[in-house]
Amino acid sequence: MKWKIHIIEEFKYEKHLFFDIIKNFNTLGCLIFKERNTLRKIHNDVLGTLAVKSFKKPILINQYIYSTFRKSKAYRSFYNAKFLLSKNINTPKPIAFFEQKKGKKLIHSFYFSEYYNYDFTFRELIEKKEMFADWNIILQKFTEFIYKMHNSQILFKDLSPGNILIKKINNLYEFSLIDLNRMAFKDLSWDERLQNFIRLSMTEDMINIIGKTYAKLTNRNEMETIKILIDKNQIYLTKKSQKQKFKKLIGKK
Ligand SMILES: Nc1ncnc2c1ncn2[C@@H]1O[C@H](COP(=O)(O)OP(=O)(O)OP(=O)(O)O)[C@@H](O)[C@H]1O
Ligand SMILES: [Mg+2]
Repeated sequence: MKWKIHIIEEFKYEKHLFFDIIKNFNTLGCLIFKERNTLRKIHNDVLGTLAVKSFKKPILINQYIYSTFRKSKAYRSFYNAKFLLSKNINTPKPIAFFEQKKGKKLIHSFYFSEYYNYDFTFRELIEKKEMFADWNIILQKFTEFIYKMHNSQILFKDLSPGNILIKKINNLYEFSLIDLNRMAFKDLSWDERLQNFIRLSMTEDMINIIGKTYAKLTNRNEMETIKILIDKNQIYLTKKSQKQKFKKLIGKK
C-alpha cells in the first residue's frame, strides 16, 4: 500500500498527526455523519478542530478510474475548496487529503477540513420554517451568495440542503458550502443558473423569494423567473418520486 498525500504549508511537518488520526479514525472525536461516507469531528491540539471525511471505498472499476484518469473525491474536495476561497466564496478551510493506493487501485481516501461551527443547514429552513423569524431575509441573503458564486463562473453540482451550512454572526448570516467534489468552472447560461437551485428541494414559498431575488439581481422578469423555477422543480419532483418507486420495486429501499 502506498500513500499519496497533500498537506497545507502550515502543517507540512505534522504528517504523523494526520496518520495517527487515520489509524484511529473510528474511535477519535465524535461521529457527525455516516451514510455512504463517514465524517467525524476530531480535535487535535496542534491541528485544531477538524471535520475528517473518510470516503467509502469505490467499486472496483472506480478504484482504477480514480487512480488513473480521474482525480479522487478527496483531491477534488481539497482543490475545489481552495479555489472557492480564492474567489471569496466561503467553505471550511481545506487542510489536507490522503489517498491510499494498492498498485493502480485507489482504496481509501480522506479529506481534512476545518470544522465549521454552524447553527443550521438549509434543511432546517425547509423543515422548521416557523423557527426562523428572519426566514425571508436568510433566503434573500442565500440567493445573493449563490448569485456571487454563479458570477464567479462556478457551478456547484451538489447544491443540496445538507451541503449548505449557515451561521448567524451578530445580525448577519454566513453561508458555507461543503461536499465540493462535483463542480464545474465556466460561464453559466440562464438555464444552468436556474437549474442549479433545483436540487435544494425548495418549497413554493422558497421559490417565490429565491426567484424574485435572483431575478432582481440579474435584471430579469420576476414572474417569469419564478414560473421557470416552479416548472423545473415539478419535473425534478416527478423524476425523484419515479426513482423512489423504482427503487422500492427492486427492493433497494
Ligand atoms: N467542515 C465541516 N464542518 C462542520 N460540519 C461538517 C463539515 N463537513 C461536513 N459536515 C457535516 O457532515 C454532513 C455531511 O457532510 P458531507 O455532505 O460532506 O457528506 P456526504 O457523505 O457527502 O453526504 P451526502 O452524500 O448526503 O451529500 C454535513 O451535512 C454537515 O452536517
Ligand atoms: Mg453532502
